[in-house]
Amino acid sequence: MRQATFAGVALALLTQNFTRASQVPLRVDSDSWNLDVSPNINATGRLVFDTVSSFLQHWPNTRYRNGHNLVPGTVPVGTLLYHGRGDSNLPAGADWVATDPEHSVIFCRGSSEAGCWHLTLIASRPLKVLYFDGSSAAKMRDGPMDSQDVVGWGKVSPERFFDEKKRIFDLCNWGKSLEIDGYVRMEMDFEIMLCDFKEGVDVVAMANLASQGRGGPGGPRRRPQDVVHTDNSTFPPLALASVSQVIQSGSWHNRYPGDRRIKLDLTRLISFYDTSLVPSLVSKRFGLERWDHRLLGISSEDIAAVLGKLTDAYTAPPQAGSGVDWDTLFKVIVDRYGDRFELLRYVLNATSDADPLVTAKNAMSQFRVMLHPYILHAAAPVPGSADTAWATPVYKFCATSHTSYIRRSAALSALLTASEHLLLNAVEEVNREICRMVVGMWAEGVTAGLDDALPVDPPIAHDSAVLMRKWQTTVNDLMTWLDWSVWIKCRPACGFEEMCYLPTWPFGGGGGGRGGPPPRDSPDGPPASPVHPDSVAEPDYLRPQPQCVRRL
Ligand SMILES: *[C@@H]1O[C@H](CO)[C@@H](O)[C@H](O)[C@H]1NC(C)=O
Ligand SMILES: *[C@@H]1O[C@H](CO)[C@@H](O)[C@H](O)[C@H]1NC(C)=O
Ligand SMILES: *[C@@H]1O[C@H](CO)[C@@H](O)[C@H](O)[C@H]1NC(C)=O
Repeated sequence: MRQATFAGVALALLTQNFTRASQVPLRVDSDSWNLDVSPNINATGRLVFDTVSSFLQHWPNTRYRNGHNLVPGTVPVGTLLYHGRGDSNLPAGADWVATDPEHSVIFCRGSSEAGCWHLTLIASRPLKVLYFDGSSAAKMRDGPMDSQDVVGWGKVSPERFFDEKKRIFDLCNWGKSLEIDGYVRMEMDFEIMLCDFKEGVDVVAMANLASQGRGGPGGPRRRPQDVVHTDNSTFPPLALASVSQVIQSGSWHNRYPGDRRIKLDLTRLISFYDTSLVPSLVSKRFGLERWDHRLLGISSEDIAAVLGKLTDAYTAPPQAGSGVDWDTLFKVIVDRYGDRFELLRYVLNATSDADPLVTAKNAMSQFRVMLHPYILHAAAPVPGSADTAWATPVYKFCATSHTSYIRRSAALSALLTASEHLLLNAVEEVNREICRMVVGMWAEGVTAGLDDALPVDPPIAHDSAVLMRKWQTTVNDLMTWLDWSVWIKCRPACGFEEMCYLPTWPFGGGGGGRGGPPPRDSPDGPPASPVHPDSVAEPDYLRPQPQCVRRL
C-alpha cells in the first residue's frame, strides 16, 4: 500500500490553519478517496481518539500507563472526597484524597488502642482540577509520571519518579496563580492531589475508625527497611483484604464513562499526541510500540508551547466552543464498530474444515451490515473488472458521515477551539480508516460475486480461501491500528467469584514491579524513603495482559 503522497501532505499543510512553523502535518489529502492510500505512519489521530475515548476509565489507563493528555476539569459541588491518616489533624498543606473510601482507608493506620482517622470532605464549590491521564499515580520510572514532570518541573525527570512530596508541592505551587485546586491521577483507583484542605472543601466527618493496620504514616514512623520488605509488618493480612477492595473499587470505573466525579472540558484539552503542538515527539515515537510511547526527549520549545497553552486554558476568556459533544461522538463510533469487528474477526477465524465460500459470504454480510447506511444505489461494480473505484462514493459517504457537517458549516467551524480541531481530526482519521478497510473488503467481495444483494455478471474468478485469509489479515491490522481497549478482555470470561484484572502498579511484577513496593505515599504522604527502584520486574509487567483473579 502506498503512503500518503508528498503532494497530499503538502496540500494538507496548505489547507490547515497552522500557527507554528515547526509543526508536522500528518493528514492525508482529505480530497483523495483512493481505497489504496493508507494513513501516514506517523499520524496520531487514532491515538488521540483512543486516549480521549479512555479518559477517567481504569481499564484502558492501566493498560497504557504513560499518559499523553492534560485536561482541565472540575469536581462538582457536593462531591465527597476521602483521606486516611493516623491522627485527627487536617493536613496543613497539600495532600492526597481519594474518590473512593476503599482507597483512602488503606492509609487509615494507627495503633490498635487509639485507632486511625478517616476524613470525609465535600466540595463546597466546583473545584478546578487538572487531569493527567494514564496511570499517573503509578510511581514508575518508565513513563507514567512524565506529563506531571513537564507541568511541575518543566522537564521529564525519570530519576525523580518517587519524589512525591516535592511533586505535589511544586505542582500546587505552579497552579496557584491559575487557581487550580487539585490534580487528578490514577493508580489502583482515582485520587486527587488536593492543594489546600481549607479551600473549596468542607469537612463532613473526621471519623476515628478501628485501625486495621499497625503503624503506618500516622503511627510510629517506619524505617526504610521495614517498608522495603513486603512482610507481615507492612502488609498484614487485613490490609491485603483492603488492597483487594481498592482494586475492586478501581474496577467500578473500568469502562465508559469511567469516574464521573471529574467533569472534563475537552474544548481545552492538550495532547502530547498533537503533532502540531508537540512535533519533537514524532521522531521519538517512531518505530516504538505504543506501550513505550513517552515524553522523554520532548524539546524545550514544545514544553514551552504546551505550558503556554495550558496556562491559556485556565486564564484566557472562556471560549464556549462549538457545543459538539465529542465524548458522546467518540462513544458512538466505538459502539458502532467495537462489537462488530470482534464478531467479524470471529467469523473470519472459522476452523480450517469450514467451507471457505460460506465463511466468505458470512463475512460479506457483516460488511454489508456495517456499510448499509452508506451503500448508495448508484454505486455499482463493473462486470468482469476487479477495479473497485466504483465503491469510492460509498467510502467517502461512510468516512465523512459523522463529521462532514461540522467541517462544512462555517458557523460551527468558527466556534471550534484548537482542541476541538484536534478532536475533529481524530474522529475523521479513525472513521476514514475504518471505512477505507471495510469498503475495500466489501467491494472486493462484490466484484467476486459474493454479495447476493448486489449480483455482478460475470464475477471475477476468486479463491475463497485466499480471500478469507487476506480479509483476516486486514481485519487484524485494522483492529491493531485502532487498538481499542474494549477488545481487551479475559478469554474465556472470568467466573462470578473472579474479576478480570490487568497487572497494575504496585502489584504487577512479582512483589512490586519496577516502581517499588506497595503504596506508602498517596493519598497520605510520601514513603519513608524511595524504595527499590530497580526491584525485578517481570517482562510482561510493562505490557499488562488481562487475567482472572479471585475476588473472594
Ligand atoms: C506472616 O504471617 C503468617 C501467617 O499469618 C506466618 O505464618 C508467617 O510466619 C509470618 N511471616 C513473618 C515474616 O512474620
Ligand atoms: C515518520 O517519522 C520518521 C521520524 O521522524 C521519519 O523518518 C519518517 O520519514 C516519517 N514517515 C512519514 C511517512 O512521514
Ligand atoms: C481463532 O481460532 C483459534 C482456534 O479455533 C482460537 O484458538 C483463537 O483464539 C481464535 N482467535 C480469535 C481472535 O478469535
